[in-house]
Amino acid sequence: MSNAASGIQQWAWVPKASEIAREAGARLREFFSQGVETEYKGDVDVVTIADRTVEKLIRTRLSEVFPEHGVYGEEGTRERLEGQFRWYVDPLDGTTNFAHGFPQFCVSMGLEQRPSSLKAEEDGTLVAGVIYDPLRDELFSAEKGKGAFLNGKPIRTSPISKLAEALLATGFPSRKRHASPNIHFYQEFTLRSHGVRRAGSAALDLAYVAAGRLEGFWEFNLNPWDTAAGILLVEEAGGRVTDFEGRRYRIDSREILGSNGSIHQELLALFADMFAGRGLSPIPTPAEWAAQREAAAAAKD
Ligand code: IPD
Ligand code: CA
Ligand code: CA
Repeated sequence: MSNAASGIQQWAWVPKASEIAREAGARLREFFSQGVETEYKGDVDVVTIADRTVEKLIRTRLSEVFPEHGVYGEEGTRERLEGQFRWYVDPLDGTTNFAHGFPQFCVSMGLEQRPSSLKAEEDGTLVAGVIYDPLRDELFSAEKGKGAFLNGKPIRTSPISKLAEALLATGFPSRKRHASPNIHFYQEFTLRSHGVRRAGSAALDLAYVAAGRLEGFWEFNLNPWDTAAGILLVEEAGGRVTDFEGRRYRIDSREILGSNGSIHQELLALFADMFAGRGLSPIPTPAEWAAQREAAAAAKD
């Protein structure tokens, strides 16, 4: 749909970024159908030739169309970071899925504007984001103040206002998984909601919150290339993004909680309870579980 037809005023960055994300996604699709060899960055952290090739492609295209913009990519690109604009690029979010032939992954590109007065440790403003799912041909895009879109059509977060009616998502780090407390949070949120999906692409999870397919998403220990585009999408679609204590999300916050806004307080309250060790659901021992099962069967007879 053209800008005029969709009622959007001039986009500054999304059209060019979308072209790049589509080209990158087409490369991922080719690699995915051929199959790629898995290599290891750490003991369980996988990487493939697709991650590296596609980051190089995005870096080259960005420098052609936005020669002054910086690029900060997961696979090591660090270019022109002193400038006013910086792209956070994840060429393949969902590498583990990709390497196993599990069809859930995307390209993610988020643009931060950093006035020259800003100190290195200070955040700029997220001004554009594009997330492309090449297998479903779904392109999620947003620019600051202009709304969020899926394949050119406006999207909004979901109106559901109770955690008990919400569908959530989370993720687990591939590295140092044992050091993450998330499995406990997974349990508590699962028990209080319609369920928690763990589909393996944080950027798509955030895009799905923006599109109203999920009411909330959280994860421990993410990086700016996973989150930059998705944060802007959620906010532009009417949702909210904070850390686990409700503070404004910073680009290097690592811990992220994104939601439709309406269930945000309820999610924050559960985080507060859990960190304080209040109201946790006990896990039965195998013997207790067997006894409960037998009691339930006997009650039916
Ligand atoms: C990963 C995915 C996954 C999340 C991991 C990320 P990668 O990114 O977003 O959903 O749970 O924490 O590292 O490694 O596939 O780009
Ligand atoms: Ca990622
Ligand atoms: Ca990646």
